[in-house]
Amino acid sequence: MRLAVWDPDEPFRRWRDALMQHAKETGLAIDVIDACADPDAQAEFALVWRPEPDWLAGQLGLRAVFNLGAGVDAIAPTLHRLHPGVPLIRLEDAGMGRQMADYVAEGVLHAYRRMMDYSAQQARQRWEPLPLPPRASFTVGFLGLGQMGAAAARRVAAMDFPIHACTRSGQSSAGLGCPVAALDRLDEFLAQTRVLVVLLPLTADTRGLLDYAALSRLPQGAHLINASRGAVIDQADLLDLLHGGHLASALLDVFATEPLPSDDPLWRHSRVRITPHVAAQTLVGPSAAQVMRKIAAIERGERPGGVVDMRLGY
Ligand code: GLV
Repeated sequence: MRLAVWDPDEPFRRWRDALMQHAKETGLAIDVIDACADPDAQAEFALVWRPEPDWLAGQLGLRAVFNLGAGVDAIAPTLHRLHPGVPLIRLEDAGMGRQMADYVAEGVLHAYRRMMDYSAQQARQRWEPLPLPPRASFTVGFLGLGQMGAAAARRVAAMDFPIHACTRSGQSSAGLGCPVAALDRLDEFLAQTRVLVVLLPLTADTRGLLDYAALSRLPQGAHLINASRGAVIDQADLLDLLHGGHLASALLDVFATEPLPSDDPLWRHSRVRITPHVAAQTLVGPSAAQVMRKIAAIERGERPGGVVDMRLGY
């Protein structure tokens, strides 16, 4: 069977070698093609990261498309429009959960231990111990509790911070045992959150969800961490709330426009830390292994995990 890989961010041979190795383990004979270099070749399965719609439109024999990341917003609507019957399958963790947990844990500790205040003091050669908030009052709120959210929440709970969550339905299969509110209780959830960790998928319902009114519900001095998609937050409103001091800090990995334009005022805000969309990166080895296991399941007539619900958009 033929697999096409469209990933402009990664040397093709890394995908080909990893896929060939795992194909051998699953007993499947595969042929892997570089879709960016050979866009006319047809394939049964496509592994893609932000593919060009024209290329996708020309693929007429697809049995499934694998998204080489956790978030499917860049492909789901296009695939659904072009090939409505073809399932879209996202990566399930594949080594990203631990990276996300590291990223969020650093952000929570940085906020809790007032590292930004100490950086500001250092710039003025000022030696002044600051009080720590009681840990039991430093509630970390997870907005979104999919695989990334659950991995991060588990780590933060293991660090002895109180946690709670808010999800679309108010339900979670993560088994964390923490309170979980539905999205229609967002205001109450935000009011009880000292560090807001945004790990929601970007969908029609979540685009611009965190605007001035929503973010103002956070208590004075709250911190924000966004490692999902930039467009969930209104960046201008976020800046206003940082300027006014309502928000104490923001750790941002994702932005409405990426790379973040060089004239964006977020770059220069002293209470903002910026990383270039690296919180949880796709790992070729574990991802190739997972995709081959899922293709083997499809070949056996089974439905693999991670199939995107196109009505929900994730
Ligand atoms: C990265 O942002 C991903 O969706 O995996």
